[in-house]
Amino acid sequence: MASLRLDGRTVVITGAGQGQGTAEARLLVEAGARVIATDLAADLPEELAALPSSASHSLVYRQLDVGDESGWSTLAAWIRSEGWQVDGLVNNAGITQRSRLLEVSLADLQRVYETNVAGSLLGIQALAPLMRSGASIVNVGSVAGLTAHYPVAYTTSKWALRGLSRVAAMELGPRGIRVNTVHPGFIETPMTASAKPAFRQATLGETPLGRTGSVEEVSGVVLFLLSPLSSFVTGAEIPVDGGQSAHGGAKAVSDALR
Ligand SMILES: NC(=O)c1ccc[n+]([C@@H]2O[C@H](COP(=O)([O-])OP(=O)(O)OC[C@H]3O[C@@H](n4cnc5c(N)ncnc54)[C@H](O)[C@@H]3O)[C@@H](O)[C@H]2O)c1
Repeated sequence: MASLRLDGRTVVITGAGQGQGTAEARLLVEAGARVIATDLAADLPEELAALPSSASHSLVYRQLDVGDESGWSTLAAWIRSEGWQVDGLVNNAGITQRSRLLEVSLADLQRVYETNVAGSLLGIQALAPLMRSGASIVNVGSVAGLTAHYPVAYTTSKWALRGLSRVAAMELGPRGIRVNTVHPGFIETPMTASAKPAFRQATLGETPLGRTGSVEEVSGVVLFLLSPLSSFVTGAEIPVDGGQSAHGGAKAVSDALR
């Protein structure tokens, strides 16, 4: 019977040094996977080092800047030299940039795209050759990629990532490789800790569940998409946002008429 277990599977996670990436690493190890956790830092990030020691035997850390093509080649060559295949890739690394429409610069746009879009494309290009039928790729989008969220570089990058995900699902489907996207809403991480209080308050007002989300609530959906339980799901997009993207602006009307 299909299950959420990932025993014997190797999963690469980008941006695993904090926030959602660390939570994903933890849950996937608990599910039995060998996790290759990657991030910008040369040494094992503190949050990963703080995971229970039971996790340490099945978690390895490698430095990787997702925008660096040669870094991906080095990672792929190392995985091959270990004799492993890749069963899962979580393109989690992402940066935000909060300039608005009339202020954003080309340099802002390029910097965000390099990580949020090119980083995921390079990951798929480098690791798909190491994947066999049954492998699963999860791209981490955002509620910004489902709406007209004001930080324009970030928003357009996440819309672009949706396009990349759908092309990848189409192109890799015949090889039995699935590609899906999760769209987190406001999740408590170091990224959102830097947001203005007004941003938090306004988002809560737009969120039917009336609260922010936790990193564990994103990880659970990522695990489902990596596991055999989702074996016929590809090209799909799952918001993990407390309902924020579902009402299309109608919540304020509903609230006003209560
Ligand atoms: N937190 C939220 O509310 C939220 C909402 C929607 C989408 N997301 C998305 O979820 C993902 C994770 O976000 P988070 O909140 O955990 O962010 P975070 O800022 O807490 O962590 C991101 C991690 O990515 C790493 N990173 C950044 N640039 C990198 C690069 N070029 N190469 C490799 N690693 C890099 C950082 O070092 C960091 O460890 C991102 O793609 C983000 O856009 C987050």
